Amino acid sequence: MIRSESTQRERSGSPSHERGINAACAWSLILSAARLARNAAWSLEHPLALTTGPDGRVSPVDPEHRSQAELVWLPHAGWRLGDRAGDCHGGDQARALFDLYLPLCRPHPGPAEVIAHLGQSIDGYIATADGDARFVTGEANIRHLHRMRALSDGVLVGAETVAADDPRLTTRLVPGPNAVRVVLDPRRRLSCERYLFNDGEAETLLCCDRARIRPGEKHHGQAELIGVPAVSDGLDLGALLDALAERGLHRIFIEGGGATVSRFLQAGRLSRLQIAVAPLVIGSGRPGVRLPPTERLADALRPATRIFRMGEDVLYDFDLSAESPRTASEHCADVIPQNTISENAIGRAELSRIR
Ligand SMILES: NC(=O)c1ccc[n+]([C@@H]2O[C@H](COP(=O)([O-])OP(=O)(O)OC[C@H]3O[C@@H](n4cnc5c(N)ncnc54)[C@H](OP(=O)(O)O)[C@@H]3O)[C@@H](O)[C@H]2O)c1
Repeated sequence: MIRSESTQRERSGSPSHERGINAACAWSLILSAARLARNAAWSLEHPLALTTGPDGRVSPVDPEHRSQAELVWLPHAGWRLGDRAGDCHGGDQARALFDLYLPLCRPHPGPAEVIAHLGQSIDGYIATADGDARFVTGEANIRHLHRMRALSDGVLVGAETVAADDPRLTTRLVPGPNAVRVVLDPRRRLSCERYLFNDGEAETLLCCDRARIRPGEKHHGQAELIGVPAVSDGLDLGALLDALAERGLHRIFIEGGGATVSRFLQAGRLSRLQIAVAPLVIGSGRPGVRLPPTERLADALRPATRIFRMGEDVLYDFDLSAESPRTASEHCADVIPQNTISENAIGRAELSRIR
């Protein structure tokens, strides 16, 4: 179960939220919000209201009658919970789902939105030295990965993750669509026998140095080959994201491993970084984020953060798109007591109910 650390405070301040909306309804609404946000035909300039029927299906209602809606889009304010969001059962879990995922369901007509995730031990490792990564984090976090896949156009991994895990990368644990699977294998070291190059379960792209593609060659197993220009430190990530955008992939979820996530982070290409920390000590192994050394802590990355509990794990959701990241001194003044989080960090205003 995902628990937003805002819920305790909100319970005491808003009794109607105690009844809440059920988690399955909340997820259906979130999927619809994500689908609408992707749909270029949907005009962002008009309000929109959504509700769920008794069968769980989501349908639009007249935006003038927001009291009948569970979720409302307001052009200059984003998604808001409608009055009906208080009429179902199971409030805390649904509230946490809205808190975590609705901010990811905004339309973004500009460049690709790239969100990365790593599940790491408390001492910062994502796998053992031999590459065993099953399972660093627990079930709630794995379910979160499937939710992120369902909300994304593309799910991207580095070559070493495919070599170590032979993953499927499909959406199986929650309702929702599969994302297009994107593998970064610049040197084409992965055999086309790998599971996701053959299973036919979802569209798959293999992105490599374009010099590695022979004239006329189009596929690697069943995956489509995408040639990307190489630069001194690997593939040109701007060209890669452009190539994905040309295929309609604007919301990319990077699921690992550490080397791949770190390259996007260092290149300034991530809008969010999610790190799930598990109460597990590996001791040594494959590290998560690796960046060049920083001499002064004042120069370290200290982005605005939201915190969610996922079973025994804690997910830190860093907003890297913020115009003014927090400074070290702001951080010291902003002590976050247990089970609460600053309003600014949780984005509570964004999700507040319309009365
Ligand atoms: N706990 C978790 O959240 C999690 C998630 C995923 C994976 N894992 C584990 O992590 C391990 C793999 O992670 P890892 O950090 O070792 O490797 P990785 O990130 O999966 O793959 C790294 C490789 O991908 C290619 N690559 C990625 N970005 C590139 C770029 N911008 N330009 C060029 N090439 C790029 C390079 O291939 P070349 O070396 O061929 O150049 C690079 O060495 C596995 O053990 C896996 O089980 C854990």
